[in-house]
Amino acid sequence: MSAARALLVTGATGRLGPATVRALVERGDRLLLTGRDAARLTALAGNAAAWDGPGEVDVLVADTGRPDGAQHAAAEAAARFGSLDGMVHLVGGFAVGPLMLTDVSAYEDLLTANFLSAVVATQAVLPHLTEGGKLVYFGTPLADEPLAAMSAYAASKAALVTWMRSMAHEVKNRGIHANAISLTLVDTPQTREEMPHVDPALTVDAELVARAVRFLTSEDSDGMYGSVMPVVGRFGFTSALAGGPPPGVTRPSR
Ligand SMILES: NC(=O)c1ccc[n+]([C@@H]2O[C@H](COP(=O)([O-])OP(=O)(O)OC[C@H]3O[C@@H](n4cnc5c(N)ncnc54)[C@H](OP(=O)(O)O)[C@@H]3O)[C@@H](O)[C@H]2O)c1
Repeated sequence: MSAARALLVTGATGRLGPATVRALVERGDRLLLTGRDAARLTALAGNAAAWDGPGEVDVLVADTGRPDGAQHAAAEAAARFGSLDGMVHLVGGFAVGPLMLTDVSAYEDLLTANFLSAVVATQAVLPHLTEGGKLVYFGTPLADEPLAAMSAYAASKAALVTWMRSMAHEVKNRGIHANAISLTLVDTPQTREEMPHVDPALTVDAELVARAVRFLTSEDSDGMYGSVMPVVGRFGFTSALAGGPPPGVTRPSR
């Protein structure tokens, strides 16, 4: 396995937090996990304590979507670890709705959660990163193939990825790697509860996403600057024009 890292993980209290943290702890990483909800952060740290792995987990309640919160979190991570090797920016949001039924505030919320939060957190963390630093963000194929009633989400993730690809050019000459993982729908306990109609065999196992995070924060990805890595599993977004499978075809198991 690749060398252990000291990382800031923002938005660790969300769906992808547990699997991601677990994969990094197994590698031996030292992690500062941030979120705005103290109770969810404490619960996550409690779970992490039971996971096998040489890594260490620390938590900090901080709103990394705001400049002061992000700067506090980045400075705390650098101070606690002595140096900082990167950031996994899990902060994000999701909402659907047709244009004419969606208030502009919903657009602002998604732009903040999915795009501006990354800008703010990256500005905070960059001064602490040295050569070889890794930055990981999360996008969606919907940014390139947007579907109806997902305009706010698709546009906010498109903004994130376009910004990341531009910013990656700025920081690459300092040896900093900024990359994104493009996800469809991840299989988590929350997903199964919220979307019981979705076949879990078609969603992406959260552990597979976590492995991609581990890769993008390791020296194995040293050749990657500004890449968008698809970890989309077998999930397919459908539109009203999509047909079902041919008659008699059964789906293979996962
Ligand atoms: N899960 C999926 O199927 C999927 C698919 C495609 C892309 N993604 C992307 O992958 C990343 C991680 O996914 P996830 O499912 O773990 O995300 P999530 O559960 O929706 O949210 C992650 C965390 O983001 C934080 N957050 C939300 N809005 C924020 C804001 N305005 N400022 C600061 N923090 C905010 C929340 O933390 P607190 O409220 O505790 O602070 C939340 O726990 C996200 O960027 C998501 O958009 C996920």
